[in-house]
Amino acid sequence: MCGIVGYVGPQSCADILVDGLRRLEYRGYDSAGLAVYDGKKVDVVRAVGKLQNLVKALKEHPLEGSLGIGHTRWATHGRPTEVNAHPHVAGNIALVHNGIIENHIELKRQLGEEGVKFVSDTDTEIVAHLIHRETQGGHDLVTAVRRALGFVHGAYAVAVIDQKQPDRIVVAKNASPLVVGFGEGEMFCASDIPAILPYTKLMLPLEEGEIAVLSATGFELTTLDGKPVDRKPRVITWNASQAEKGGYKHFMLKEIHEQPRAIEDTLRGRVDLAAGDVVESEIGVDAATAQLISRVYFIACGTSHHATLYGRFLMESIARVPATTELASEFIGREPVVGPNDLVVAVSQSGETLDTLAALKVAKEQGARVLAIANVIDSAIPRAAGSAFYTHAGPEIGVASTKCFTTQLAAMVLLAVFIGRRRGSVDKDRAGAILQALVELPHHMRTVLALDDIIRDLARPLSTAKSSLFLGRGVSYPVAAEGALKLKEISYIHAEGYAAGEMKHGPIALIDAEMPVIAIMPDDKSYDKIASNVQEAKAREGRVLAIATKGNADIGGIAHNTIYVPRVDATLSPFMTTLPLQLLSYYVADFKGTDVDQPRNLAKTVTVE
Ligand code: G6P
Repeated sequence: MCGIVGYVGPQSCADILVDGLRRLEYRGYDSAGLAVYDGKKVDVVRAVGKLQNLVKALKEHPLEGSLGIGHTRWATHGRPTEVNAHPHVAGNIALVHNGIIENHIELKRQLGEEGVKFVSDTDTEIVAHLIHRETQGGHDLVTAVRRALGFVHGAYAVAVIDQKQPDRIVVAKNASPLVVGFGEGEMFCASDIPAILPYTKLMLPLEEGEIAVLSATGFELTTLDGKPVDRKPRVITWNASQAEKGGYKHFMLKEIHEQPRAIEDTLRGRVDLAAGDVVESEIGVDAATAQLISRVYFIACGTSHHATLYGRFLMESIARVPATTELASEFIGREPVVGPNDLVVAVSQSGETLDTLAALKVAKEQGARVLAIANVIDSAIPRAAGSAFYTHAGPEIGVASTKCFTTQLAAMVLLAVFIGRRRGSVDKDRAGAILQALVELPHHMRTVLALDDIIRDLARPLSTAKSSLFLGRGVSYPVAAEGALKLKEISYIHAEGYAAGEMKHGPIALIDAEMPVIAIMPDDKSYDKIASNVQEAKAREGRVLAIATKGNADIGGIAHNTIYVPRVDATLSPFMTTLPLQLLSYYVADFKGTDVDQPRNLAKTVTVE
């Protein structure tokens, strides 16, 4: 997830572009850059780090001109360095990109054979070269972009300028957002509305597979295969803060709703459905390691720890490898025994959590093989591990983790299938079925998110509770633990996430009519057992809210209220059952009026032990 912005018109554009990037920084902030046509050539300035560094660089090297593009980066391929920063240049072409090119390895190889020399490690530079090649072949810019994108699989929003046709910007979109803004004799483009809202309120979001030419005198919209599109811009009535949150009240709610897209980005380029397998180059573990290890040892904190509870389940059920998971702070607090036959997997959305980093170092010192699963590229934990699986969820602004959690779950599935296939513990058919179900998840997640209003209504009575109990068994235990954590983090209501089978060993003493019990009970082999536990809670007057599978005819007679989620492969039910709990916590907190995005006493990145 990156931010892109572009301008063509009569004004000097560098300040407009920087101003736009400032409002897009929430989409990425590891490096930034501008490309501006100065009347003779396209000049580029880029800088690593926050936008402030680009502003400094522009003081030393000002860019003058009225056609330009800008970018703020959230690295996916290639470390956050100046050469990897956008815009990328190939001959007369300069380009900014948001998204992930799936077939980048293949395209890079082909271009390499044609003699192209690459200066960066990014997937984006490949697209710049493809477009350049097409313009060399005599095509005008829009045709060149259209032809080049024909070779590209993946997600992109691009803005392209050409030194030889310096009166236009060509933009195109597939799966990453892009909006065009209409001014008086000037045009804008950006990843998101807030970037250009101070300049125009008249906007047109591009739809999938559309390409547009913007110039001071006109706008031309077609599909990627050249059919004209006639759609009118609309007036945006949001204020700047609403716009940054995509119209949502809080970043957390926006990020909850971004999850289908985030999962698609995690899976992009990593699943080979025909082979019923996971693509080795994108996973951070090699086949030899997968075969050799005798145990997988997860370490993490907080929400990431809950993802590892699911990881442990999958390692055992799919990969048939003994697996354990440990809170990082406890791992370092004991004298853990790990060695060369262990794969120690450190999971962290920020990639900076000090306990997890320290635990990883201990594991490494003891000779274990290590892997990081992280969202922030090139952060401390992946760097220390040396090999990484990046979840590509994009920046998460809300302190309470939502899309980072579900993308970690997706990482767990891919890792378990990959290791299972290498060890022969899951065959091609079963692996293929799991992966097929995995790629279908975003569709079902959208169905769950459409329950937003129903869940909001169910949240209202919960907001007066003093304490609550979340129950799950098997694959739903991590969901219960995470559901409880989410509620306590943002609403400050005491919540316990418990393995339902343990309820009788303590928490049952707390249950009364004042105690909401949230039971995660999708149709799976644990269903009957958790249904009995729920009856036990009900017998103590507990108010039961169930999360169950659509079509379950018997839950209505057990629970007071039920949220029904779509039926998916039973192994993948946490993707369905997690979402209602995130929304529930969100609305409870919102009813209580707490600071949802920045709850008291918590931090997004915890670098103290
Ligand atoms: C903090 C965050 C949590 C997160 C935990 C672990 O407490 O508020 O959302 O789960 O740290 O962070 P990590 O970045 O390692 O996943």
